[in-house]
Amino acid sequence: MPPRIENYQGREQSFIKHLFLNKYLESAAYKLFQGRSPVFNFVDAFAGPWRVSDTNKYSDASFSQAIETLESVRRALIDMGRPGLKVRFRFCERNPASVAKLQQFAAQKPEFDIQVFSGAFEDNLDGIRAACRDGFTFTFIDPTGWNVESSRVFDFLRNLNGEFLFNFMAEEVNRHAGWDGVAKSVGRFLADPAWKAAFEAMPEGSNETKILQLLKAKMKEARVATYLTDMAIRKPREDRIKMRLILGTHSGFGVEVFRTVQEKVEKEAVRTRNAIQTEESGQSQLFPEDQIIAFETDRDGVGCSAHIGWATEILLSTVSKRPGIAFSTIASEVMEQVPVRTTHLNKITMANRKAGLLRFDLPNGKRTPSPETKLRASEPQGD
Ligand SMILES: C[S@@+](CC[C@H](N)C(=O)[O-])C[C@H]1O[C@@H](n2cnc3c(N)ncnc32)[C@H](O)[C@@H]1O
Repeated sequence: MPPRIENYQGREQSFIKHLFLNKYLESAAYKLFQGRSPVFNFVDAFAGPWRVSDTNKYSDASFSQAIETLESVRRALIDMGRPGLKVRFRFCERNPASVAKLQQFAAQKPEFDIQVFSGAFEDNLDGIRAACRDGFTFTFIDPTGWNVESSRVFDFLRNLNGEFLFNFMAEEVNRHAGWDGVAKSVGRFLADPAWKAAFEAMPEGSNETKILQLLKAKMKEARVATYLTDMAIRKPREDRIKMRLILGTHSGFGVEVFRTVQEKVEKEAVRTRNAIQTEESGQSQLFPEDQIIAFETDRDGVGCSAHIGWATEILLSTVSKRPGIAFSTIASEVMEQVPVRTTHLNKITMANRKAGLLRFDLPNGKRTPSPETKLRASEPQGD
């Protein structure tokens, strides 16, 4: 069952986070089980339970939602004639009281392959890796701040060669990262004790956007992912960025799914914000909810005109630098950076072909490029 907003009073941003996790896991598991592997390992590295309302069933905790989502995918595929699929759950938690709750939860669910790891994630990496020895591994890393020893975590992620969702705590980082007293812990988080020089050399920007950029650069350097895509989650009551979910993946499909899920979740975020405003003001809104959602997402959501413009710019400049680049390659690279989907990129390439800026052959009988279609910039016309 998807997360229910009633359980998230005052922490609606966690509702959006869980919605994203659920929808992403669902698509990722379908894809994996239909193709590559019969085994899916889900690692909840900072599992909690943490600030839950449903203290009986933990339906508002990530670990319990992951179980429900992945189990429903497994069952649906069994019904479609795919037996032999397996999901492993590996939960890690540092707080002893929370570990006890996780153990109790696991004991009540003997039908699932759950292992609970007690202590810091960074101290349990070998054990968790051994417990995910085959199959595809998805790791959810959801700390409360930036207290993470990233260099060890990066080694773990690189060796597993799966996917991860990293919750970057933007608000906390923004508030504190400029203070010298935390320089050492930020260095651990960035896997770079000498981070301050690079930080200070960066152009103007908020603390959190600069730290995010440094973190992603370090992740790429550590080869934990080919693509790093992210989206912001706002605190709906204050309309401030609270966190950013970063997906690390080696697959172009993962990037496309990320943007598709983002588009859905953005609508829910507007709906949630709107419901809170209505409740707090005691006045009904002037426009219908659907219209408010369309207005807000057209302004800065996935595929809005600003993002289409930005995607077009990147696409055209990349094609001119790398003539003959395959549509699927450029699509993943653009979607990694810009909130657009393949359908938007189809339209962008077709419009620019018509405008004479791009050259490519359309596959027989098709009206959009195929993944293999080679794109080239049009030669400038001499007079
Ligand atoms: C934000 S909460 C996790 C919430 C949970 N993922 C969810 O969405 O329902 C972070 C949790 O990580 C635990 N924690 C903090 N540092 C940790 C570490 N180094 N290793 C494992 N757990 C840690 C905290 O005790 C807390 O329960």
